[in-house]
Order: sequence, then C-alpha cells, then structure tokens
Amino acid sequence: MRELEGRVAVVTGAGAGIGRDVALRLARDGCDLGLFDIDAASVEETAAMVRAVGVKADVVVGNVSAQSDANHAVERWAVSLGPIDILVNNAGILQTARFLEVTVDDWRRTFAINLDGVFFFCQAVLPTMVERGAGVIVNMSSWTGKKGVPNHAAYGATKAAIINLTQSLASEFGEHGIRVNAVCPGIIVDTNMRAEAEDMNRDQGLPDVATRTKALPLRRPGLPHEVADVIAFLASDRAAYMTGQAINVTGGLWMN
Ligand SMILES: NC(=O)c1ccc[n+]([C@@H]2O[C@H](COP(=O)([O-])OP(=O)(O)OC[C@H]3O[C@@H](n4cnc5c(N)ncnc54)[C@H](O)[C@@H]3O)[C@@H](O)[C@H]2O)c1
Repeated sequence: MRELEGRVAVVTGAGAGIGRDVALRLARDGCDLGLFDIDAASVEETAAMVRAVGVKADVVVGNVSAQSDANHAVERWAVSLGPIDILVNNAGILQTARFLEVTVDDWRRTFAINLDGVFFFCQAVLPTMVERGAGVIVNMSSWTGKKGVPNHAAYGATKAAIINLTQSLASEFGEHGIRVNAVCPGIIVDTNMRAEAEDMNRDQGLPDVATRTKALPLRRPGLPHEVADVIAFLASDRAAYMTGQAINVTGGLWMN
C-alpha cells in the first residue's frame, strides 16, 4: 500500500515547476489531487500526468489572491474528491527590483498572491480539518524569508510572513491534530520562476545560476522534485511530531 493511499491533497500553483512535481509526487504516494492554478493549459497538463499515475485529479482554474476562487475550489473538491487531508500552498510570484523602484502596485500584487493566497486557502480548509481532528498544511516560503537579500524586498517580506503565519497556525491548531509546516527552497532550476530570475540577473549584470551555485556546499542548484520530496515527507505520518517548522531545502545555501 502506498504511503498516502486514499488521502486527498490540494496543490496551488500546480501548473508548473515545483507545484507540478509536488502534485506528481503526492499522486505516486496514492493521493487524489485537487489542482489549482491561474494558467488553465498548464494545470490541465499536470492533471493528465497525475491521472496517468492512476489517481483522481480535479482542476480548478483561479487566482489564489481571490478569496471567492479559493472558497469555490475547496467547496468543489469536498464534493468531487472528499474532505481535504493535505493542503500545499505553493503558488507564488517573484518580484525583484531595487527597493526605491518598487511600486505600490508591485508591492500589493506580491503580497496579494504570495501571502493573501495562503491566508485564503488556509481559512477555506481549516474548518473541516478541525471538525475531523486531522490535517496537514505545507506552505511554500523561501530562504529569502529567513535572510534579507538585495532587490527582493517585497518577495522576501511575503516569504518571511509565511514563516510566521505557519508558526501561528501550528500553535493555534495543533490541539486539533493539525500540523502546519513550511519549506524554504534555495536556488531551484527547471521552473518558470528561475528562468525569470535568470533574465533579471542577466539584465543587472549579476552572475548566472551555475556560477552562484558552484560556491554552495552541494555545488549545484536544486531540482523541483527535491523540494517535492521534502513536502511529501512533511505531509506524511513520518513527520507526525513536526509542526511550526520552516525547513531549508537549499543545498546548504542557508543553514539557519
Ligand atoms: N524556483 C525557485 O528557485 C524557488 C525558490 C524558493 C521558493 N520558491 C517558491 O516556490 C513556489 C513555486 O515556484 P516555482 O519556481 O515552481 O514557480 P513557477 O513560476 O515555475 O510556478 C508557479 C506556478 O504558480 C502559478 N501561479 C502564479 N500566480 C498564481 C496565482 N495568482 N494564482 C494561481 N496560480 C498562480 C503559475 O501559473 C505557475 O504554474 C513559489 O511560491 C516560489 O516563491 C521557488
């Protein structure tokens, strides 16, 4: 029997990059999947890959920054898949700019997607998790949520807030049998976000990924499935005594 056989998992931002690999990993572990993304074509592609594993996938196309989209998705999956056991809040956007050039619109959009999205999905799933006395939430932060870096003010602030929100929820809902953790990836390649970051680094005359990751303890960037493996562990009963943690998946880039 597969480790998460029969459980229902939801992944936001499941159309590409890390989110797609999380969906596939949880599918291989036996979960039925609720898949959410703003990009219909790419999330349908993920759904086809998930179904090919032999489990159910139900897609909702929407924007994580819209509370009505989050509520609609969770209500729909309750009917199509059953009660949600695992929520992975993965969707996010990168925002990089010199601080003095960050516009109010950039700032608000980054917070709306990266942070409000987590708030809305957690509020949507938690009442049923409390009723059932069980549930797991994994939130996507970043090493830049633990250490400020230049040109990432808005992005880093959202990722730091996600760590604190994770701790607050872990503290408040632990008594209901609900665990809430975060992961903090470092430099992960083969994602749209990384390609975008590389374009921006090149424009700013900064070194490329290969050069920067050569200096890391593990001497290379990470891959989406290496983040997905840690998320699957946190979602599983093997992590039964872990809550409120923000786990680095950085090849040693960040160790605190
Ligand atoms: N790639 C990295 O190096 C890295 C490092 C640290 C943290 N992260 C985090 O991992 C998560 C996934 O990143 P990725 O690199 O796989 O990115 P990606 O751009 O490859 O994929 C993000 C997915 O989220 C979806 N999405 C974007 N905005 C959305 C919205 N408003 N509503 C619904 N879906 C939306 C996109 O359509 C896409 O499918 C993000 O939260 C990111 O901040 C990535």
